[in-house]
Amino acid sequence: MNKLSRRSFLKFSNRLLTITGLAVIIGPILAYFYPPKLEETPSEPVLVGNADELSEGESKTVRFGRYPALIINTKDGLRAYSAVCTHFACICKWNAEIEQIVCPCHEGYFDPVDGHVVSGPPPEPLEPLYVEVVGNEIYVGGEA
Ligand code: FES
Repeated sequence: MNKLSRRSFLKFSNRLLTITGLAVIIGPILAYFYPPKLEETPSEPVLVGNADELSEGESKTVRFGRYPALIINTKDGLRAYSAVCTHFACICKWNAEIEQIVCPCHEGYFDPVDGHVVSGPPPEPLEPLYVEVVGNEIYVGGEA
């Protein structure tokens, strides 16, 4: 059997470390220039969850294509919006205490029933998304 000499082992280790180092450097660069293809808006409705898991006043955030969607069970029924703020595209969240959708970046506030701007710098209402209950499951997206 062929024995690996110390010199051969060091050469092999050196090459392995070089290749690993290059992969660590080049991998993120390639990922930056060739990002994974995510649909801007899904072509099919996205499952949110069971309707009885979302009580009035509660919300759920789900991945909706490239961006998250915010689904809220308001006093006027289910509403869904793109969670992307219309000011500088921060991700908005539901605040159950004040019953408004809040953008944490510059204190933008949106109404949960129609998405209009209550206060703050956002220039436009949140983008509404179609939401429906099929059986006992909530779906967001698809056709109205
Ligand atoms: Fe939402 Fe500025 S990014 S208020």
